[in-house]
Amino acid sequence: MKDIKKILFSFIIFFIIFGVISSKTTIKNSNKKQEPKLSSTLLNVHIVPHTHDDVGWLKTVDEYYSGTNMSISFTGVQYVLDNAVSCLLQNPERKFIYVEIAFFQRWWNEQTPTMQNLVKGLVESGQLEFINGGYCMNDEATTYYDDIIDQMTVGHQFLWENFGVMPKIGWHIDPFGHSSTQAAIFGAMGFDAFIVGRIDYQDIGIRLQDKQMEFMWRSSKSNPDDQIFTSVLRAMYCTPNGFDFENGDDPIQDDPNLFGYNVEQRASAFVEIANEYATHFRSNNVLIPFGCDFQYLNANMYFKNIDKLIEHINASPEKYGLNLIYSTPSIYIDAVNKAGLTWNVKTDDFFPYADDAFSYWTGYFVSRPALKGYVRQNNALLHMVEQMLVTSSSFLTQTQSSQLIQDIMVMRQAMGVAQHHDAVSGTEKQEVADDYAERLSIGNAASLETINTVIGKLLTSSSKSKNAATPNLSFCPLLNQSICPATNPLSEGSNVPVIFYNSLSWTRYEHVRVPIPVSNVSVSSTDGPIPSQVINYNSSYILEFYALVSPLGYSTYVISPVKGEENERPAEQVYETIVTKENTANPIVFENKYISAQFNPNDGSLISITNVTSGATLNIQQEYVWYQSSDGNYDSTQCSGAYIFRPNEDYAFKYNNITPIVTVAQGPISSSIRIFWSDIMVQTFRLYTESEHLEVEEIIGPIDISDNLGKEVVSRYTTDLSTDNTWYSDSNGMEMQKRITNYRPSWNYTVVQPTSGNYVPVNAITYIQDTSKNLQFTVLTDRSRSSASLRSGQLDVMMHRRTLMDDGRGVGQPMNESTQIITTSKLIFHDISEVAQSHYRPTALGLAHPLYPMFTSTQQSSSQWNNQYTGIYSPVDDQQVPTGIKIQTLQWLDDQANSVLLRIENIYQIDDQDKDDPKTISVDISSIFTNLSIASITEMNLTGVQKITNINRLNWNTVDNFKPSPKSSSPNSNVYSVSPMQIRTFVITFN
Ligand SMILES: *[C@@H]1O[C@H](CO)[C@@H](O)[C@H](O)[C@H]1NC(C)=O
Ligand SMILES: *[C@@H]1O[C@H](CO)[C@@H](O)[C@H](O)[C@H]1NC(C)=O
Repeated sequence: MKDIKKILFSFIIFFIIFGVISSKTTIKNSNKKQEPKLSSTLLNVHIVPHTHDDVGWLKTVDEYYSGTNMSISFTGVQYVLDNAVSCLLQNPERKFIYVEIAFFQRWWNEQTPTMQNLVKGLVESGQLEFINGGYCMNDEATTYYDDIIDQMTVGHQFLWENFGVMPKIGWHIDPFGHSSTQAAIFGAMGFDAFIVGRIDYQDIGIRLQDKQMEFMWRSSKSNPDDQIFTSVLRAMYCTPNGFDFENGDDPIQDDPNLFGYNVEQRASAFVEIANEYATHFRSNNVLIPFGCDFQYLNANMYFKNIDKLIEHINASPEKYGLNLIYSTPSIYIDAVNKAGLTWNVKTDDFFPYADDAFSYWTGYFVSRPALKGYVRQNNALLHMVEQMLVTSSSFLTQTQSSQLIQDIMVMRQAMGVAQHHDAVSGTEKQEVADDYAERLSIGNAASLETINTVIGKLLTSSSKSKNAATPNLSFCPLLNQSICPATNPLSEGSNVPVIFYNSLSWTRYEHVRVPIPVSNVSVSSTDGPIPSQVINYNSSYILEFYALVSPLGYSTYVISPVKGEENERPAEQVYETIVTKENTANPIVFENKYISAQFNPNDGSLISITNVTSGATLNIQQEYVWYQSSDGNYDSTQCSGAYIFRPNEDYAFKYNNITPIVTVAQGPISSSIRIFWSDIMVQTFRLYTESEHLEVEEIIGPIDISDNLGKEVVSRYTTDLSTDNTWYSDSNGMEMQKRITNYRPSWNYTVVQPTSGNYVPVNAITYIQDTSKNLQFTVLTDRSRSSASLRSGQLDVMMHRRTLMDDGRGVGQPMNESTQIITTSKLIFHDISEVAQSHYRPTALGLAHPLYPMFTSTQQSSSQWNNQYTGIYSPVDDQQVPTGIKIQTLQWLDDQANSVLLRIENIYQIDDQDKDDPKTISVDISSIFTNLSIASITEMNLTGVQKITNINRLNWNTVDNFKPSPKSSSPNSNVYSVSPMQIRTFVITFN
């Protein structure tokens, strides 16, 4: 009785809230949401009709939407939605869920207002429910946290604006393993549960036996409040065998006058399945998905038969003992929650994922590394342009702003699509990978145009530039290939002002590298000449100097060809010289005030890194090795492919068997050693004067397959650290995960694949530690890849792969990509201590968001140019952004209403080493921006659509009795405290 009152009460509240939403979104229908008809005595079978629509895989996203290329895959999402909606309108009992907003948005935009109103009615009545609601169902291993948050935000904003709804359930039924950060992000968005499909075959075997298919996942040590109830599907996400009505399984025939009457046998078969499912779950509810990839193309075939199944089984509860309902994941989770059970707690993640003993899905962590790198670069560009549009708004007219904000939607959506679990993961067909890259390049071009306009305005924003022409900017997207036509005017005697933008919220003093066409230049900051060096390698020139750039701002450096009598400091010329036995002392040593690094003069290889202050030395050897991709000839027919890494044997071969040409360049800005084996394998180590780390740049590929062998190329670091079979890898760029060789924290692991079973995803950071010596060796990466530690002191980082066979998981193509990557990593040797984080976190973020150069040219001298233009832009008071705080997002919501989405992140995490120091940091939001005055601050859920105070997540009992603290905001002040790894989201309005 009490429960019914509670339900009634929440219903009334619901309609009050709904009333408010309806008036906002002008929903005319007055469809009432029906309470699900649950039984307290019978097993409730929640039939969830769904379609799993990959945002690109075998076909491109638009081909899937429109139904083009039916020969590849006979489907079209536009028809799926047409038909499913029409089936819902026919029978108010029916329900359907929809997940991928990239598709739904395409469909919605094509509907008439009448149809849109009908659909709003379906959403209001609960017949159509949005689940998950991201732009796509993102991959979890190879995505960066910025990108996950952004793509979920694009989807949720669409749903909020059009329907006034916020999804409640994470539905990642297909991604190939699950990350701690994904779970915590879903928690911080306000989701009530996370439903997953694929977990390790050993893990699920035990969970099925022990009824541990549902549990509390407390994935973040730093943010335990973001724990999320997690449910594993019994048998993946497709309709149980025999009931796939759209694909040829027998219909339910319930007319006894017709031949083929079968409803009783079919009902019994279904009851058997439902009862079997139920044996693995603890409440008297089971969720049975009805649907699969791109199904409901002929929705009527499904709904008509499910109608009959439900009607027949529910008519005889005493005979069948089941209560079947049309349901959704949120109805199911509510029902499980009401059971009031106490749940076990899981704290580790779900990587790596294997679906059988020979099939570890650890290849896709690295597949298509060029696409992975391009996605990361475009994340940096998108965040830069978004924040730039906000901070520069007072220099733009309203019309300009609106247009520019519109323009970057292209990039947001291209990035949204690229996070799909067959996009950045590299598990799509080659043509589809090309489509993702093309979308990104269109977004990229639109962003550069926007930047050109905005920076032009900023450069001419002061009164001194009244009569000055707005400089036209050019960009050098191929900078890492040492190609930069934007500096060509130097060879005609012009000066080249280069503007570096810093999208991180702290001041950076960093080395920069600019290819130039001439050998003798000088560099001036707005304060005058600064030191620089030009590396001369076979008459191609790279200029290096240090740039100092304030947060979310830019600084200008003018490069001038040296004509003789200039009052400017010419760059020091540094020649790369070939290392020979005769000219080189043994070994080669680079040293700055922090570290020294020693290299072997015979082959250029790294020997050691020393902390010059403490004298601590890391003996280290780095080499490239490769595993031979399995072609299915040993033990199992499983091949290595886009998803699966399966070496033919556990032995790794040396990748470079020839003696390289080694060259060295040492100057006032940097020292570097280049090891050249061939055009397809070049490695350069660099030590800059002002850095605590060693940079390594690698040119790898196209991988040679002239021997007809697929190859998985690994950079292997072997050190003298004693690492106790333990290494660490980040989760989507956020919290570190402890990894132990041949071990799983959640179950007693049987080792079957000693190599591929130990690979885990790395998005930015991986390290090994020697706790007895208190020393750590860290590798920071510029894109997602993978790491393993197969021996004590060893850290393997997989760099590239090219496989010649398909691995049988659907893509139907070998991952035979002939790309070259140019990639930069940072190697840090440092103490394990609380300050450890202050070494690798900001550096890792710097690698993800490099200082971004923009070029122009002028006949004016550096001082003339600086007299006319605003060479330094600094919209943020860096005194007001405490160390450890990152402005994660600054993005327009509504420029008419002057409202902006702001996310503030604490970049540190809680560590075992410093439990006593929670590192919570306070920020006064109103004082961050120097030229924007804040009118209001409202704290929101992570996707920024719902007020934090309106989020009421379900309460769950756990075995350890942990209770998350209620979400609160600090409404009486502008000062917010941000705990480690926490991201707080705000809508702020400006005056
Ligand atoms: C692993 O096996 C040991 C001994 O058989 C047992 O004590 C332990 O509880 C098991 N651990 C897990 C996580 O199942
Ligand atoms: C180098 O050693 C000094 C003295 O022990 C220490 O303060 C410093 O943090 C070390 N540097 C790194 C990068 O760990």
